[in-house]
Amino acid sequence: MANFFPRWTNFLPLKIAICGGAVAGGVVLAFTYYATPKTLTAGYQPSQPIPFSHKIHVDQVGLDCRYCHSFEDVSGTSNVPGNNTCWNCHQHVQKESPKLQPLRDRMDPTLKHPDFGKPIQWVRVHKLPDYVYFNHSAHLNRGISCQSCHGEVDRMETVFQKNSLSMGWCLECHREPEKHLRPLEEVFNLKYDAKDYIAAHPGEMMKLGVKTPEDLGMKLKEHWKIHSKETCATCHH
Ligand code: HEC
Ligand code: HEC
Ligand code: HEC
Ligand code: HEC
Ligand code: HEC
Repeated sequence: MANFFPRWTNFLPLKIAICGGAVAGGVVLAFTYYATPKTLTAGYQPSQPIPFSHKIHVDQVGLDCRYCHSFEDVSGTSNVPGNNTCWNCHQHVQKESPKLQPLRDRMDPTLKHPDFGKPIQWVRVHKLPDYVYFNHSAHLNRGISCQSCHGEVDRMETVFQKNSLSMGWCLECHREPEKHLRPLEEVFNLKYDAKDYIAAHPGEMMKLGVKTPEDLGMKLKEHWKIHSKETCATCHH
């Protein structure tokens, strides 16, 4: 068990509880309320090497999240885009902008800048401790939108951490995922509204007996056979 939960090597009673497979609801509750700080880093908003605005690129230019965060639904890890993605447009657009000088230095060989060829060092905003297992695709493939976890990124000038990412926060949704489930084709739509969706698919909804957003959530939960994932090993292997 040497490296099981490296941070808690001094926390023997806890290790015993976890290794003994203590998964009773009471244990979950106790940890939810006592062991986890509710708002660890919510609101965290570091400044970035280039003042990249999601509001401009998503809301105004109209780009889909997947244009830049492209591995979301195929691999377990997410990613921020490399210089080439920006350069596709910015070798032609906003060529004089001082905000984009760090990009030109890295991408334009004629400038002979010492940083040529180097990646932009974006500052990571959302980060879980290493002892927590998380997987984007497991969520996106079950109709959980970027918005449920990251907030309205499409309106952010500078990205900030909307939610605490605490254990209590994860469990809140794992207990009642139906409140957040969407049809798969709506996962990347940041303007999604369940009422509008129901109104736009009258025949299908009538067949399923779905009248309200709550009905829709419950139907999707049944359809995907979602079970609440609260056992310790789900997130701590
Ligand atoms: C034009 C490219 C582009 C598009 C389109 C884009 N992003 Fe980003 N995104 C970035 C870049 C670059 C960063 C890293 C810099 C930053 O945090 O602002 C980033 C960072 C993020 C982060 C924070 C990552 C961290 O470090 O924790 C989240 C969350 C995010 N994007 C979500 C979204 C969502 C949701 C959408 C669609 C609504 C989207 N992005 C569309 C380029 C893009
Ligand atoms: C699909 C094309 C496209 C891509 C890809 C793109 N941009 Fe842009 N970007 C634009 C457009 C168009 C504007 C100007 C919007 C306006 O003037 O309202 C812009 C504006 C900007 C600005 C503001 C410039 C200023 O002086 O106001 C910055 C900074 C920027 N982009 C950075 C980036 C970065 C960094 C990336 C890569 C993560 C990126 N862009 C990817 C099209 C793109
Ligand atoms: C169930 C909640 C959840 C959903 C849904 C979700 N994310 Fe995340 N995201 C997280 C968490 C938690 C982290 C931190 C992960 C870690 O540290 O291992 C994160 C990290 C990120 C990062 C930074 C990681 C990196 O490799 O740089 C980006 C970018 C990101 N998310 C984009 C997105 C986009 C785009 C979507 C929608 C397509 C999305 N996320 C949907 C919870 C979520
Ligand atoms: C907004 C809702 C929501 C939030 C927030 C959320 N999850 Fe989930 N999570 C789900 C759903 C839905 C599933 C799929 C359950 C199923 O398929 O039965 C899931 C599944 C998982 C799985 C199982 C993946 C697999 O391969 O089986 C892990 C691990 C997980 N979540 C970790 C986390 C962690 C860690 C956090 C907090 C940082 C988190 N989740 C926050 C809704 C959420
Ligand atoms: C849905 C995912 C999930 C499940 C299930 C889960 N945890 Fe966690 N756990 C987390 C996350 C995320 C953190 C990190 C919280 C933070 O950094 O604030 C965490 C942190 C912890 C911590 C450290 C708290 C601290 O203050 O440092 C302990 C102890 C812990 N979990 C025990 C458990 C036990 C015992 C169970 C089973 C009863 C369990 N966890 C089930 C997601 C989960």
